[in-house]
Amino acid sequence: PKITYIEHNGTEHEIDVPNGLSVMEGAVRNLVPGIDADCGGACACATCHVYVDPAWADKTGSREPMEESMLDFAEDVQETSRLSCQITVTDALDGLIVRMPEHQG
Ligand code: FES
Repeated sequence: PKITYIEHNGTEHEIDVPNGLSVMEGAVRNLVPGIDADCGGACACATCHVYVDPAWADKTGSREPMEESMLDFAEDVQETSRLSCQITVTDALDGLIVRMPEHQG
């Protein structure tokens, strides 16, 4: 599935991410800047914060309670804010668009 990552400065990266990886891993493995992922995907750092495009918010599902509490540590949290390590890539997410915040952590 193709995921489009948009940096805060507007630079777009369209990446083919294999099913089963997280949206965070898709960015980190392809050196897309803007997602730090300090904890490596354990839902323990909030530096993989992204804004899911509103059109995709239903498909990516809702936040788990642990993700919700970690997001308290992220800056500028909005309605579609997610921790990208908690979104698993599947065919249903082909075409997903996420935007990175100005700062992580
Ligand atoms: Fe640390 Fe997602 S990588 S919370």
